[in-house]
Parts: sequence; C-alpha cells; structure tokens
Amino acid sequence: MSNSKPIDLNSSSTTPTGANPFGTDAWIFFPDRLDALETFLREYGFAVLRGLFDEDFMNAMELECVNAQHAVVEGTLPAKHGSAIFVDDIDGSKTSKFANYVLYAEEVCPTVRAAIDDPTVKSLMQRWLGPHCWTDPERFGVVYQDARPGRESSYTRIGWHSDWQSGPNLDVWPAVAFTFHVDGTSPDNGFLRVVPGSHKWSTPAPFDNVNGAVVPTGSKEAMGHTDEAPPVAMPLRFEKVPGEIAVYVDRGDIIFHDAYLWHSAARATSDDTTRRHVRGGYYGGVRANGARYDEFVKNAAR
Ligand SMILES: [Fe+2]
Repeated sequence: MSNSKPIDLNSSSTTPTGANPFGTDAWIFFPDRLDALETFLREYGFAVLRGLFDEDFMNAMELECVNAQHAVVEGTLPAKHGSAIFVDDIDGSKTSKFANYVLYAEEVCPTVRAAIDDPTVKSLMQRWLGPHCWTDPERFGVVYQDARPGRESSYTRIGWHSDWQSGPNLDVWPAVAFTFHVDGTSPDNGFLRVVPGSHKWSTPAPFDNVNGAVVPTGSKEAMGHTDEAPPVAMPLRFEKVPGEIAVYVDRGDIIFHDAYLWHSAARATSDDTTRRHVRGGYYGGVRANGARYDEFVKNAAR
C-alpha cells in the first residue's frame, strides 16, 4: 500500500454527473446523458435519473398521493385502490387506520399519470423494451407505496427477489420498473439494495421461499438475460449478498431497474421517518390478452 496515491477528497476530478471521487454515484444520470443511462442499465440492471421532475411537480405528486392514501383509509375511493392492508394504530384503540398502498394511483393522481407518460421516461423504456412496450393496468396498476417504519405500518422492508419471480408463469417479461421518489432515501428512512449485473443471471423461480408461497403451474424454472446461473443462491430474507450495493436517492429521482435484477429494501432505522414512492413498470412481453410482441423480447435481450 506504500505506493498508493492518497485520495484527495477535495479533488474536482469528478464525473460530469457530479459523482464523488469514489464513483459511488456512477449510476446517477441527468437528462442530458440518456445514452449513458441506457447503457448503464443494460450493463448493471439499474440506473437513476435525476433532474427530470422539479420541486413543483413533486409537491403536486406528494399532495395527490397523500390525499389518495387518506381516501383509501376513509373508504371514499373504489375498493380496488386499497390493498386491504390496514393496521390498527399504536395504542390499540382502533380509532385510526393506515394504508401502506394506493393501487391504480395513476387513475386518481394526475401527476402520476403524467410521470408515467413523460416523454423521457417513455423513450427510455422504448429503448430497453421496444417501441410498443406498455404499462400494466391489468395487475394492480401503478402503486403509491408508503414504507414508513412506524408501528402503524405493515410494509417497512422487502426481502431479496427479482420482479420476474412475482409472475414466473406470465409472459409479460422482460420488463423495467420505475420508482418515482417522493422522499429521498438513506439509512435513516430505508433504501434500495441491489446486486449490479444480477439481471444477467438466470435466476430460479422461488421454489424455495420464505413465506411458503406456491409457484404457479406453468412457471418457467429460471429467467434472466443470459443462461448463466447465479454464483450464489438468492437469500430467502435480508442476508448480505456478495457485491450488493445501496442505491440512495434524492426526492424527485427515478430509479429504473430490470425485472430480473436482484433487489431488496432495507428497513428504516428512525421510526419518525417516511419512505414514500410511486412504483410501476413497463413491459415488453405478452399482454394478458395474448398479443405477442416477439420483436420487443428480442430488443430487450440485447
Ligand atoms: Fe421488486
């Protein structure tokens, strides 16, 4: 180590994205570097787009989503917007309830619809999935998620998975997920964990899983962008995976990730925080109505 060059923390030799000297923001791109973002996602399975949505837009999105969340609790929205996950409040008085999710948020929040249809978002999805990729109204729409850690909350973290594992019997894949961040993330309020490059591994459907869920008949045994087997088994819960990283974001950032990417979400360490985001995806495979888009599958496999 005697020959190693000391790290200059004040160095100005950062990347054009403003990344720090250690390169830990290498996955953060502004709208003027979409080609680089596209390439990064193909290589590593995830990327962050920063600077597309301004503060006024995020304020409007937050207001609309929080209002919809309250409306779910109050029962003033159609039942399909609720997830039936209601948790009684801390003191057990059952006088207040909490909703972690608003399903089909794009139908009640105009800014969510606008974000999904944003030309930059859509153009990126078309690069990865082909010109006729589509969003997913059939399953549960785009979902507003409030993953706060307080005791009133029943969704605070999620274990290792790839999104493909949620429907290994479906032909909607490949897909790329988007997450519009209402709150920035940190160890304080929880954050996304990913294994860069794991989207290329042929990951098994979860025939062994922690909650005993049955893998549907007709499921493919494994999927990924190559036939290469994962070097380690996907952990059942929250264990550390070799090579995993934390992806911290700011309010207004968008995380894109491939549906084959291994990811999980770490729970917040401060109880009085919130981690709220809007989550959905674009798909390039076969719609539930059976229409086939072979060329999109081909495009996405590049
Ligand atoms: Fe996921």
